[in-house]
Amino acid sequence: MEPATEVDSEFPSILANDATEPSLYQAAQFHLRQALQALTDLSPGRDPEKRKAHEDVRRLLRQVLQFLHVHFSPEREATGAQRFGDLLRQHRAEAGLTQQQLAEYSSLSLSLIRKLEQGDTLPTRNSLLGLCSVAELKLVPPEVTTLPSVRERSHHAAPNWYMSPGFDSVSMMAELNQQINGSGGSIEQTYVYLDPQSALDWIALSNSPGYIAAVREGLPYRDVAKKLREVLGTSGFDLIALGPGDGKSEVRLVQQIHSTCERPNLRFYLLDASQPLLSRAFKHAVDTFSDEPGIFVCGIQGDFHHLPRYAQLHYTPARSQRRRVYMILGNTIGNIDNEPQFFQCALSGAAPGDIILFDVDYAFTNSTDPDEIRRTDPAFQKPVSAGVQRWLEGPIRRYCHDAQGVKFTLRLDTNRPLAGSYGGQFIATVALPGKRTKEFCMAQSRRYEPNALIRCLRSLGWDNVGVFSFTGSESTPRGLLMFRKQIPKATH
Ligand SMILES: C[S@@+](CC[C@H](N)C(=O)[O-])C[C@H]1O[C@@H](n2cnc3c(N)ncnc32)[C@H](O)[C@@H]1O
Repeated sequence: MEPATEVDSEFPSILANDATEPSLYQAAQFHLRQALQALTDLSPGRDPEKRKAHEDVRRLLRQVLQFLHVHFSPEREATGAQRFGDLLRQHRAEAGLTQQQLAEYSSLSLSLIRKLEQGDTLPTRNSLLGLCSVAELKLVPPEVTTLPSVRERSHHAAPNWYMSPGFDSVSMMAELNQQINGSGGSIEQTYVYLDPQSALDWIALSNSPGYIAAVREGLPYRDVAKKLREVLGTSGFDLIALGPGDGKSEVRLVQQIHSTCERPNLRFYLLDASQPLLSRAFKHAVDTFSDEPGIFVCGIQGDFHHLPRYAQLHYTPARSQRRRVYMILGNTIGNIDNEPQFFQCALSGAAPGDIILFDVDYAFTNSTDPDEIRRTDPAFQKPVSAGVQRWLEGPIRRYCHDAQGVKFTLRLDTNRPLAGSYGGQFIATVALPGKRTKEFCMAQSRRYEPNALIRCLRSLGWDNVGVFSFTGSESTPRGLLMFRKQIPKATH
């Protein structure tokens, strides 16, 4: 079991000056955080009531921490309502929002926003939470917002890269090393992008003409953006790219979405386990959108299998109209070990009305006969491409102590949990001393019957709202599917 970790992840914490004695404010902050940590470690067991109480207490404590930041931070100790009002006005101006927009985004009334800015009143806990949920406002701890370097244009320059709680890429590399030196098995996709060389090889592959034609180019970016507007209306979006790689497809889609907005109100989160890939995607997104108003970009290094742990992505203020849009592009779903389980578990934090969209390859045949599949699907009729081999053999060559050579084949996998799907497994046969060998499945690439996927997601609480079929290279039939989390029917 992983050790419990600090859950105070809403905001990055940078101590202003840790060489001096802690102030009373810092001491209060420290003890509250300690309490939060202790509470997190305190297992509530399986009793659902106790678990809920445990979650409630932790949420309350996090709110107290936020309250503390705004009311008692050193630079605001002698301030009161007027200073809060000044601060709010300044942050709103830097975010380029009108009072009316801020009222809409934070679900507070316009008159309350005016009163707060004029210093006529202090925010209650609820109004503070509403304000904190507007990411562009950057109501983050004073240690961050008062740093001289971020004062100017802090809208763009304030810290916006988060490390997820419990994420430890060093341990992940150690696990990969252990697995590669074991007797064989299947390497989960998280591990084949992790180190910088794997990331470089993946970038080379995903920018090769073959990949661009097969996966990126045909994506119906414009139609998807239009459909999203139809389905979600003019509310703000939290666009959460899971596994963006170098971010090229995701940024292109977000550009289209942005262009459909009259008054854009977008938060674009890029979440990837691979630090080198995430920095590429993040830079590309920031470069693309740095001059655009109404879009906030944030990088999150994390594991999409652990999405429910990332509370900052799943906080929904009461009465909020914002919707999350999870994007999983580049055939990433087709390399998830158990797709139904992933939709059920990883996306359990989604709220009714949220959207997920992902692209997949379609099956060439609905036959379950292996010979028929091999006969109709061109991938099984040719060797594994040199680019794929270079990328996937990298971890074996770098970390397997006694590997003498690696050969790849594509193995057909018909034992899939999802009806109508089959997959190709990229099998690495590793030559070892003494003519021994061992085998690893380094990646998988699945084909789906779209209606079976739609039925599967419906049974898990997601309604299909769009199917965009298109053709990849070699006439591979492909599709981008869009689903909306069911909205519970009102009971009378
Ligand atoms: C097939 S690539 C797709 C990249 C990009 N979406 C595209 O369309 O080109 C898969 C991406 O998912 C990321 N990834 C794999 N496992 C992950 C995990 N468990 N958590 C977060 N990201 C992961 C990889 O680092 C990589 O960036």
